[in-house]
Amino acid sequence: MCGIFGYCNYLVERSRGDIIDTLVDGLQRLEYRGYDSTGIAIDGDEADSTFIYKQIGKVSALKEEIAKQKPNRDVTFVSHCGIAHTRWATHGRPEKRNCHPQRSDPEGQFVVVHNGIITNFRELKTLLANKGYKFESDTDTECIAKLYLHLYNTNLQNGHDLDFHELTKLVLLELEGSYGLLCKSCHYPNEVIATRKGSPLLIGVKSEKKLKVDFVDVEFPEDNAGQPEIPLKSNNKSFGLGPRKAREFEAGSQNANLLPIAPNEFNLRHSQSRAFLSEDGSPTPVEFFVSSDAASVVKHTKKVLFLEDDDLAHIYDGELHIHRSRREVGASMTRSIQTLEMELAQIMKGPYDHFMQKEIYEQPESTFNTMRGRIDYDNNKVILGGLKAWLPVVRRARRLIMIACGTSYHSCLATRAIFEELSDIPVSVELASDFLDRKCPVFRDDVCVFVSQSGETADTILALNYCLERGALTVGIVNSVGSSISRVTHCGVHINAGPEIGVASTKAYTSQYIALVMFALSLSDDRVSKIDRRIEIIQGLKLIPGQIKQVLKLEPRIKKICSTELKDQKSLLLLGRGYQFAAALEGALKIKEISYMHSEGVLAGELKHGVLALVDENLPIIAFGTRDSLFPKVVSSIEQVTARKGHPIIICNENDEVWAEKSKSIDLQTLEVPQTVDCLQGLINIVPLQLMSYWLAVEKGIDVDFPRNLAKSVTVE
Ligand code: F6R
Repeated sequence: MCGIFGYCNYLVERSRGDIIDTLVDGLQRLEYRGYDSTGIAIDGDEADSTFIYKQIGKVSALKEEIAKQKPNRDVTFVSHCGIAHTRWATHGRPEKRNCHPQRSDPEGQFVVVHNGIITNFRELKTLLANKGYKFESDTDTECIAKLYLHLYNTNLQNGHDLDFHELTKLVLLELEGSYGLLCKSCHYPNEVIATRKGSPLLIGVKSEKKLKVDFVDVEFPEDNAGQPEIPLKSNNKSFGLGPRKAREFEAGSQNANLLPIAPNEFNLRHSQSRAFLSEDGSPTPVEFFVSSDAASVVKHTKKVLFLEDDDLAHIYDGELHIHRSRREVGASMTRSIQTLEMELAQIMKGPYDHFMQKEIYEQPESTFNTMRGRIDYDNNKVILGGLKAWLPVVRRARRLIMIACGTSYHSCLATRAIFEELSDIPVSVELASDFLDRKCPVFRDDVCVFVSQSGETADTILALNYCLERGALTVGIVNSVGSSISRVTHCGVHINAGPEIGVASTKAYTSQYIALVMFALSLSDDRVSKIDRRIEIIQGLKLIPGQIKQVLKLEPRIKKICSTELKDQKSLLLLGRGYQFAAALEGALKIKEISYMHSEGVLAGELKHGVLALVDENLPIIAFGTRDSLFPKVVSSIEQVTARKGHPIIICNENDEVWAEKSKSIDLQTLEVPQTVDCLQGLINIVPLQLMSYWLAVEKGIDVDFPRNLAKSVTVE
């Protein structure tokens, strides 16, 4: 959902060519977040000039465009800031004029890249247009660039020479909606602003020298930015003017009050912090990488600082200053520099043709990693460090509400029954957007579980804020470490699946599923009556990675079915019941999003209530017919299908004599998978469907990792 990337060097000599390559490479790793157009802004040849390069399509097209423009790649800079963007269109079609960076004026005095949606952009646009600003695009972002210029000029005319971050505070005052935002300006050469509200942003820091991080003990400045001195009406709001706080003020206070804090921590107690001195206090050569996702930073550095909502980072002269754009009682005052555990190899395709294929094949390992160190198979114990202390509270809950979107929602559906069975707590499963639309009642004694691969999905975050406001305990089940959901929830579990880059979620699904089962198991570890069931599940979990490996061997057969029977079909039905209903929904979603074939997951028991009308000898049907207590009912649903000349593909357990017998008299084929405990069978059964969606897409010539109209991380409502 748009990726933004910025690069700043200080006392590190880099050629323009290097800087362009760094920006383009950063974008390439963010491409999964949006791939309809791209662009970069860097310093031009003349002082105060800016080069903006844009292109429709993927990053490779931008590379060609830049090569065509022939910028002088050899010019060197010891200090420079560049910004870049890959877009998933929300406002304005993918056309060149709508690509980011967006500029304030033809000279590009202020250029911005933005991820999110400015909801009041129409009002701002009208107001700025009335003041003579000429808009070039249909984007909401352009009004941010023009607002920067307008506030800059207005303040300057009134004798106020604002710092870049002060000016930004004024801009942010006027914005409603969500943003991850980078801004660069010829009026603030070699400086960049990075700020976020509702969209992820992190800053990687790289230096050869050992860095010491300090904070400056300045008084919290009276934040007059909210009380403008020069009101310029925009509806009831006003364009504001903040007090000038000279940089020398900071420098002066620094000498007086430099207090050490724990290395690698920023203390925002006083609204701003100062960083990056070498240990001897001398200026330090340093590079900063600002990005929507750690995946584009890990190649350069593993030291990152995750910005929080309303943080405003100002990078200049090799320093990183973090300000708060809004005062908030109880807001966290510390930002730590974390060390990423991600390896570059994890975000490379390796021998695979697509990330999705790689991620499907990683599942034996990723599911193992989800359980690693958390399950003691000898003593049948599950220990989830991030939840342990909260389990007594969860056990007292009146209700458990699982909230998520898309595939993550399906992992909740897949595990609801085992939660209810093991915990005896009523569980409801909610799609985040619908949960909010209904303004679902939530109470202090509810426990709300938020499941998300990215940890940045806007609908899920809004639902999380809604539950926090109502005093519920919130639990995060998240893949991306440091993401908004993992930081804002009271407690939770990282699923440890490793970076998932393919737009279609695969390994995150199986790891979420396992994490949720482990959560249910931990909830019941004080229940004697559940001991046998718990042992059965824990021992079942141990075998899952190996069993997934076995299912992956079905690939050649699945590939053949796709090329010979399915690829030219218009529609496909998936039937499942009980634990397998979630697998049917998830399988159908995979097929839709990657192969663009209509497919529908149907609860097998509902077939006779309408869907049966679709069944004939032509409609492809896949049914989950693995063994569990509902097996006889599933068999009878499948018989309803075959009686209407349907010839389903049955996903069944190995050597199941019922299906072997039936296949003698009925036109059906089977895909055999290993058997596991009923509540875990969905982990095995989904894998053939992941492979099927993948091969259907490949057969149809679709770019698997970049399905049309989609993006990996949906950071807009
Ligand atoms: C489907 C898919 C999406 C996501 C959904 C939620 O393959 O990837 O349906 O599952 O957008 O995303 P997260 O899990 O990041 O909250």
